[in-house]
Amino acid sequence: MRLFEDTTQARPFIKWVGGKTQLLDEVKKSLPRDFATRQHITYVEPFVGGGAVMFWILQAYPNIERAVINDINEELICTYRVIKSDVGALISTLTAIQAEYIPLDAEARKGYFMEKRALFNTKKTSPVETAALFIFLNRTCFNGLYRVNSKGEFNVPHGKYANPRICDADNLRACSEVLQKVEILCGDFAETGRYAGPDTLFYFDPPYKPITETSSFTSYAKEGFNDAEQICVYEFAI
Ligand SMILES: C[S@@+](CC[C@H](N)C(=O)[O-])C[C@H]1O[C@@H](n2cnc3c(N)ncnc32)[C@H](O)[C@@H]1O
Repeated sequence: MRLFEDTTQARPFIKWVGGKTQLLDEVKKSLPRDFATRQHITYVEPFVGGGAVMFWILQAYPNIERAVINDINEELICTYRVIKSDVGALISTLTAIQAEYIPLDAEARKGYFMEKRALFNTKKTSPVETAALFIFLNRTCFNGLYRVNSKGEFNVPHGKYANPRICDADNLRACSEVLQKVEILCGDFAETGRYAGPDTLFYFDPPYKPITETSSFTSYAKEGFNDAEQICVYEFAI
């Protein structure tokens, strides 16, 4: 948390399983010694998730000239793109959702959540609506989990937060500013290979291998991530 202490800085706009906010000190230690003085650096993050490392590193090292982020989760990437290009509309939509949800009692909140989850799962909403629903569901679902079934439908139940912060307008605007120099891709991590070069820093944080068959608490995308793909990441990175 220490590296995100300054509240004027952009921080991840969602909770994300496997988020690396707590490990930023470790990431910092693993950077080359002269990293802060190198020029024309491109930063690439093939499994960006909530973007803890990306938001931190782009603000801590202004010498990074540009960045490329990628994730296979289409709704997550839609949300990044909306924050980059249409943050005002997103803030208005989220503010309206927050004003409708917060005054409701527990039972009515649950009904509202289920309606919005069904709407999100139609996959027929506009990019701004999709992004607003994505953030709303993340803020109000059980433990901020993201889990989809084999049809790709988000199926996390309603959480029980007394006063969830659904619209953090200042942070969304700060995120938008950081994202202006970021190219945002949606697809398999291997697509980012074309950005490799002598002045490129890759940060890989793929899905974890569950300890047991039944211990997986998340499925970020309907495709899943099996052992063969873990090996592909290893081969891609070396
Ligand atoms: C451990 S999380 C990354 C967490 C991130 N470092 C953070 O701080 O929030 C792994 C991410 O990989 C994404 N993912 C899963 N399979 C993928 C694939 N084949 N290509 C690209 N991204 C993938 C998931 O959607 C998830 O966001």
